[in-house]
Amino acid sequence: MANRRDFLKNTALLSGALAFSNIKVNATPNLPAIAADDEQYWKLVRAQFPLSSNKIYLNNGTMGPSPYTVLNEVQQEMLEIETAGRYGGYEDVAIKELSKFLNTKDTEITLTRNVTEGINIACWGFPLKAGDEVIITNHEHVGHASPWLNRAKLSGIVIKVISLGKTAEETLNIVKKAITKKTKLIAVPHIPCTIGKVLPVKEICKLAKEKSIWTFIDGAHPAGMLMLDIKDIGCDVYAGCCHKWMLGPKGTGFLYVSENIRHTVQAYYGGAGVDTGWNLLATPPTYSAYAENGHRYFYGTQNAALFKGIVKAIEFQNTIGRDLIEKRVKSLANYLQDNLLKMGNTIEMMTPVESISKAAQISFKVKDKDVSKLQIQCNEKKIITRFVAENNINCLRVSTHIYNSFTEIDAFLLEVDKFIKA
Ligand SMILES: Cc1ncc(COP(=O)(O)O)c(C=O)c1O
Repeated sequence: MANRRDFLKNTALLSGALAFSNIKVNATPNLPAIAADDEQYWKLVRAQFPLSSNKIYLNNGTMGPSPYTVLNEVQQEMLEIETAGRYGGYEDVAIKELSKFLNTKDTEITLTRNVTEGINIACWGFPLKAGDEVIITNHEHVGHASPWLNRAKLSGIVIKVISLGKTAEETLNIVKKAITKKTKLIAVPHIPCTIGKVLPVKEICKLAKEKSIWTFIDGAHPAGMLMLDIKDIGCDVYAGCCHKWMLGPKGTGFLYVSENIRHTVQAYYGGAGVDTGWNLLATPPTYSAYAENGHRYFYGTQNAALFKGIVKAIEFQNTIGRDLIEKRVKSLANYLQDNLLKMGNTIEMMTPVESISKAAQISFKVKDKDVSKLQIQCNEKKIITRFVAENNINCLRVSTHIYNSFTEIDAFLLEVDKFIKA
């Protein structure tokens, strides 16, 4: 608590030199009591974000707005790089902090630009041949569907598309039934972009392991939303990003490749950092082993400012407290779901009500109405949501993060009510 208190009292995370920045730091507010349901506290948290006060941003699932502390760090570092003519740096720090945040070894983390990049590295890295089966779901984002379909097109692997069950148990049974002797890999989202359902990934990975099937998890959403623990899930590979729920710089992500599978997931791009040595003067020229860490999958010039921004984003989350963040984002989402359900059977709830299968995204449809029009109606009121057109699901997705409030959810509910009655 003392940590959180200091954070809000001093806004120490923000206070660094803003000399060249046109970002305005909000005045330091008075210190309130701190509790998960303390609206004063969360107002102060909101004040850490430049996010327009007249905007109700309920689309963190697409992009997580960064707080000042992250923006300031990135700006400062960019200025420092350009002033000093400095090259590189901070990769190791970002990797170390990410590995602590995700509970992995630091040698298992690769820095990427986004989730899609991590998915592509994994998709091409697994040694799959024509006829091998890969299980995915009918709730994939283009960033997860497209790489696998491309691999199927070019390598002849077979993509088996499963549906999701209403409960975690049902989903697990569907996965079980889809497995055949030819299944080599199960590649599923932890939380799909569509309906906010939390898949039973730990159980899926356990099942896969028993059958010697590899596992890949598209983890675009959980980092920064849940107390994500990748080792506990037990997957082989997990791709995530820092620019959604972690509220970090845009164009930053991570790929976890378990050390147990490092020698199986082939690196296909060469470059600085990928290998342990090469010699063009030898005859024939030599190329030695790949790096015994996540660097075997990334290379070349990187932006140190973004890496520093990742570290700041982690610091920001840790200062508030990851447990408190998870509680808060879930309580906002539960409030939204409960109130939508109270509107009766006009609402077709897409997100499960089972608590283990939901987190901070609620998706729904309105009976006999096109909810893309509700999205437009909300936009006009500066309430930002996401229409889910993927795979003809056609629902509206609402994401709740720490900068949101119950009052904002009420404003959204009012729009839903008007839409139903119109
Ligand atoms: C489930 C899921 N997977 C993958 C992606 C692609 O993420 P990125 O844009 O970071 O590549 C997204 C983006 O919204 C997503 O929701």
